[in-house]
Amino acid sequence: MPSNRLPWDSPKNRLTLLLEEKRRAGAPVLDLTESNPTRAGIPYPREEILMALADPAALVWEPDPLGHPAARLAVAQAHGVAPESVLLTASTSEAYSLLFKMLCDPGDTVLVPQPSYPLFDHLAALEGVRVEPYMLRLDDDWSADLSGAPRDAKAVIAVNPNNPTGSFLRVADLDRFAALGLPLISD
Ligand SMILES: Cc1ncc(COP(=O)(O)O)c(C=O)c1O
Repeated sequence: MPSNRLPWDSPKNRLTLLLEEKRRAGAPVLDLTESNPTRAGIPYPREEILMALADPAALVWEPDPLGHPAARLAVAQAHGVAPESVLLTASTSEAYSLLFKMLCDPGDTVLVPQPSYPLFDHLAALEGVRVEPYMLRLDDDWSADLSGAPRDAKAVIAVNPNNPTGSFLRVADLDRFAALGLPLISD
């Protein structure tokens, strides 16, 4: 029996059923949720990547729990920070899992934007963590409303640019996050 962390018997929603029907019928579908860069029509240096794989150094496996040192150095240089403060993960989801474990005990709360990335509920539930939404409000522009945010939360998540609104954080939002005095997880 699987654990009770997730609602395993979630029924498919109307959108999923419709998408399955369209695909079965061979209808053209423009999938705006496609996040696999090799399928999203993004141009990238194919030759350079293939040549890098032909380098004999690629045959040597030297795992490092913080990520490959050369890759960490490249990321650090791109962001103007020390390599010691860079840790690489296999995905954002893995990074969330590590951050929730580091910052929260089971039953603790993290603040998540709404509307935003729907997988937060599941990523948090898998770690025994609860999510509390704070609203992104659209007036002339999107802004974060943290007025009712519980003070005992263990972290606040900001998604920039946000999925699905495509909105960016403003300086005023950053001031509001800072005023919470919580660890800020920036996605
Ligand atoms: C805001 C946000 N975070 C994380 C992810 C997933 O990232 P990963 O595939 O690296 O786990 C997505 C995917 O769409 C996303 O929109």
